[in-house]
Formats: sequence, C-alpha cells, structure tokens
Amino acid sequence: MIQRLKQWLTGYTAADQTPVDRDRMEALKKGPLPKHVAIIMDGNGRWAKKRGMPRIAGHRQGMITVRHITRAADDLGIQALTLYSFSTENWKRPKDEVNYLMGLPAEFLRTDLDELVERNIQVRMLGEEEQLPSHTLDAISKFKEATKENTGMVLSFALNYGARREITEAVRRIIDEVKSGKLDKEQIDEELISRHLYTAELPDPDLMIRTSGEIRISNFMLWQLAYSELYFTDVQWPDFSQEMFFEAIEDFQRRSRRYGAV
Ligand code: IPE
Ligand code: IPE
Ligand code: MG
Repeated sequence: MIQRLKQWLTGYTAADQTPVDRDRMEALKKGPLPKHVAIIMDGNGRWAKKRGMPRIAGHRQGMITVRHITRAADDLGIQALTLYSFSTENWKRPKDEVNYLMGLPAEFLRTDLDELVERNIQVRMLGEEEQLPSHTLDAISKFKEATKENTGMVLSFALNYGARREITEAVRRIIDEVKSGKLDKEQIDEELISRHLYTAELPDPDLMIRTSGEIRISNFMLWQLAYSELYFTDVQWPDFSQEMFFEAIEDFQRRSRRYGAV
C-alpha cells in the first residue's frame, strides 16, 4: 500500500521500472559507443490521437520514455544525451499544449531529480531562456543547481531551441567581441564558432535518432550534426523502448564513419 502510494505520488508505476537487458548492454559496450547521442523525440501527439486521447497525454507518456532512455544511456556509459524537447517553432501550437509542455520540467524535477542525482547525471538546458515562463525557468535552475557538481552523463534538454537561432546568437556575440577588440577577425574559425554555440562544452553528436517516421531535422543542431550518423525509426516516442535504443546503437556500431576520407 505504502509502495503503491509512493509510486502514485512520484509518477512511477511498476511497468515503469523496466530493467535494462544486461547481456545486450554488455555486448554493446564491447563495440565503439557514441560519446554523444542526440534525439528528436517526435510523435507524442499522434501516439495519443491513435488512442483517442488528447495530445498532452502523449507528452505525459513521452516523459516516461525520457526516464527509460536516460537510464539506458547512462547504464550503457554514454557521456552525453541531448533531448529535443521544445523547438523555437513549437510556440505555434495551441496555448494549452504549450502550457502543458512548459509545466513538464517542474513535473520531471519532482519525479526524477533524486534518481538523476543518484546516477551522478548533470542536467543542462540548451536554448534561449528568455521567453520561457518563470516556473519553467525555476525548475531548470533547480535541476542545474542540484546537479552541477555531478561528473557523470550530461543530460541536456533542448528547450526553446532552434539551430538557426543558436547560430544567429553566436554570430551576434562574435561580432560584439570583434567590435570590442577582444577578438580578431582572423581568429574566427570553426572551433571558435563551436565554442559560441549552446553546445560549447559538448562533443558533436555521433548519433542522432528521430522517432515517429519523419525524415527531417526540424531546425535541430544544424552545425553539430555535420558528421553525425542519422537513425530514423517509425516508432512514436512514447513507444520507444530501451531495446529500441540499443537497436539504434547496434546500428551505429555497424556503420563505417569516413569523415570524407576513404
Ligand atoms: C514531439 O511530439 C514532442 C514535441 C514536439 C514537444 P509531437 O508533439 O510533435 O507529436 P506529433 O509529431 O504531433 O505526433
Ligand atoms: C521537432 O518536432 C521538435 C521537437 C521534437 C521538440 P516537431 O514535431 O515540432 O517537428 P515538425 O513540425 O514535424 O518538423
Ligand atoms: Mg511532431
């Protein structure tokens, strides 16, 4: 009874505690692992619609998938996991849906902070903070503050993120630095541009996964994905399982990365 109550209060259900497939994971660890995996979590709305539920039910279920995939990535030893959670274009959605999405960081803080801390995971946000409601920013800063000393996997939520916006902001800042004499025009190179992006301290993603069958980038990490391996699956994000995540990594391990060489 107490257990049930605790599960209800924390948003966990028994089905939620799927153990990772240890054998499969150990086999994966023998191959080259991507350092950074970035995911476009898509298909929440369609998942809900198919079940006759409102779109927000899909987002709620999608949050549970976030928990599962975070666990799988961490157990596997991935160094950085980036999740596209809200794009600069997603403001075009109905107000109720946007409000619900903006409430999810606080919800996730309540249900998952303890486990993330226990796992030594560091939580970050990639995107423009201004424009976000204060309760969303508050949850994000609590996440950052509580996990800032953590040295394990870096879990980044791309929130109010747009790659074109990111590049535009970087250009503006670089120009300011040149104007103020802090930087010489000749010093502008690829490395310097990378350092002015939200992802400054992260390696470029080795693997980018998109769920829901859409074969597009939707303004995600346009600079950083230059040489990433891309993996698309028809599965909607709420149905994306740890097994499917491992399948994507297995697929990555079969690829031959040439970076323009032979
Ligand atoms: C992805 O699912 C989540 C966000 C964009 C926030 P969608 O909400 O885009 O779901 P579909 O693509 O409409 O099914
Ligand atoms: C991309 O999904 C954004 C996120 C997953 C947060 P969208 O559903 O917004 O992308 P489009 O509209 O299908 O390109
Ligand atoms: Mg979508």
